[in-house]
Amino acid sequence: MSLEEDLRQEERIQAEIESQTRYLRHEVQTLTAEGKELRKLLGFFQEAKGRKLAPPRWEITPQKASGHPGLVVAQFTDAHFDEVVEPQEIFDLNAYNREIALIRFRRWTEKVVTVPRDYFAGVQIEGLVILSTGDVLSGDIHAELKESNEDALLASLLFWVEQILASMELLGTEYGGRVSVHAVVGNHGRTTIKPVFKGRAHSNVEWLLWSVVRDRLADRKSNVRVEVSDSMDLNVPLYGRNHLLTHGDQFKGGSGISGSFAPLALGTHRKGQRQAVAQMPMDLMVIGHLHQYLDLPGVIMGGSMKGYDEFAFGLNLRPEPARQALWLTTPEYGKTMTMPILLQKRENEGW
Ligand SMILES: [Fe+2]
Repeated sequence: MSLEEDLRQEERIQAEIESQTRYLRHEVQTLTAEGKELRKLLGFFQEAKGRKLAPPRWEITPQKASGHPGLVVAQFTDAHFDEVVEPQEIFDLNAYNREIALIRFRRWTEKVVTVPRDYFAGVQIEGLVILSTGDVLSGDIHAELKESNEDALLASLLFWVEQILASMELLGTEYGGRVSVHAVVGNHGRTTIKPVFKGRAHSNVEWLLWSVVRDRLADRKSNVRVEVSDSMDLNVPLYGRNHLLTHGDQFKGGSGISGSFAPLALGTHRKGQRQAVAQMPMDLMVIGHLHQYLDLPGVIMGGSMKGYDEFAFGLNLRPEPARQALWLTTPEYGKTMTMPILLQKRENEGW
């Protein structure tokens, strides 16, 4: 090897040593920094572990019973009194006749008193509002109903007027006379072959039924007040919020997978527009008809007292037990604490 090659070799080695030195110096700096960070974290965890926690103490402010007024609102819908539902025709999912209807109606009356008492503790209940959204009686609108009902329509009406009087008088007593009933007609009580729009309420036996109940209660010196709508709809303001009652048979469709949601959404929109123009904006629409219990924003559908029947079975509708909506309305929030009153108890009903 020449001296020149020796020198070049020496330079390469020198360059390699310098490169390795730079690399190792960088490694040392990185590891020193990591070590420092780890020691800091260890110190933090040791301090956190040893430090005493001092969470703030949260407390529920005791409310004075008198500070929370509210009204119990009980929907009474789709009783279809005197319709007969045969359990063997619907896989034993339900049964209905006058005897069972009486058991359910008495149970409803009792629960409208006891459920708020048991579950709305601390609320100063200022009264009971009953919203009747139609189809109290089975009616004669289809031949199959007329032939299978427990009794002829006018005889049914007289029988059930007496039962309704008994129920209202008991509720009047239990609620200290602070009970009001507001009623619209359904479609099953109509006396016309097809639904009509002119004179819809006055041509419906339910208008007669509630008018008789109103007048007999007054005769009997009851404090229960009954308002019977001359229109197919009724505005009921509660704590300044308008509750629009309507039976709901005008909302057509809904047999698809979305069920009643699509016709309800469209119907609510249209009713909302009409109510806005009439300067009676709708805070809550209260409906029946579809025999479902639904609690949606701006709409409540109250279920049915009759429960599942041959019609719903034939249309493959989801079996729904007999139940009725009940809720608490407060001045601050309107409808709150909503619950179904469950009415179908097979062991009590003997089927
Ligand atoms: Fe109905």
